[in-house]
Amino acid sequence: MKKIAGIWGSCLLLLSGCSAIQNMDVLNPAGSQAEEQYSLIKLSIYIMLIVMVTVVVLFIRFVYKYRARPGFTPEKHQENRNKKLELTWTILPFVLLLILAVPMVKSVFGEEKQDNTGAMKVKVTASKYWWKFEYPEKDIVTSQELHLPKGKRVVIELHSKDVIHSFWVPQLGGKQDLIPGRTNKMALTPEKVGTYQGKCGEFCGAGHSFMRFLVKVDSQKDYQQWVNQMKKENGSTKLSAQESEGQRVFKSNCLSCHATSSTASANQGKEGPNLADFGDRERVAGFMPNTEKNVLKWLKDPKKVKPGTDMPKAKGLSDNDYAALSAYLKTLKK
Ligand code: CUA
Repeated sequence: MKKIAGIWGSCLLLLSGCSAIQNMDVLNPAGSQAEEQYSLIKLSIYIMLIVMVTVVVLFIRFVYKYRARPGFTPEKHQENRNKKLELTWTILPFVLLLILAVPMVKSVFGEEKQDNTGAMKVKVTASKYWWKFEYPEKDIVTSQELHLPKGKRVVIELHSKDVIHSFWVPQLGGKQDLIPGRTNKMALTPEKVGTYQGKCGEFCGAGHSFMRFLVKVDSQKDYQQWVNQMKKENGSTKLSAQESEGQRVFKSNCLSCHATSSTASANQGKEGPNLADFGDRERVAGFMPNTEKNVLKWLKDPKKVKPGTDMPKAKGLSDNDYAALSAYLKTLKK
């Protein structure tokens, strides 16, 4: 009994852990592809319910009808063949599968046939364990937060720098793998303004469960504003003494991997995530709230926070250097 309670307890804990991740609900779609997938999920659940209820009702009926009791001889009720019944339970599952398969196949091929002229393009590159988002038509590169306009079809090109990852935003649409040496494509059409949780959906190494990102769906107007802001260079605000010191530490320790400008040319050859709008981001390292405490925790020992990350620990930095670095990172705003 204790064992069962323990198992049940850990299951509940796991489930509550899942719900703590913001908006990962397939049953609450916010995009047209997710909406279609949701209707297929509902169809399959209804079919399963019909089968389950029928089987359980018949089971209970027969258990009762043929129960052992004085004067009851089961041999009398033994039947060798019943052609009608056999045909029924052979044909019925086939019909149920057809009811499920037709809309599903239609949906898959319908999506592939969709016209992509006029659709927006985004290139997504996954690396252990973060996400790079490029907007080739806009000359914008960013990371960890993908901004999309509401009501516009977006064709997403998927690449991987190292191992197989999987791009998954449950509320906007199903998963698609990112495979090294291969370009996969998928389309999303977000229909509701909001912030949606994205996650790597394929086990890719020690940091897999921290490989998260956010999708921010804005109105067309807000999205255009975000694009304009991203295209502006940082650096108009005057830095304090501590922030300037942080900028110096950044230049000598971080700049070789991280760009602070979002143009494609500034990001050429940069191995790490773009930081142009780091101060505006909700998360640090993709999954922790962007607070000073968490930024320091991350900078001081990246591998402890996210196992397997390529981000190295900077050598020979004092507590003051870290504090200055964190203060400088906060100024990277749009
Ligand atoms: Cu990337 Cu799991």
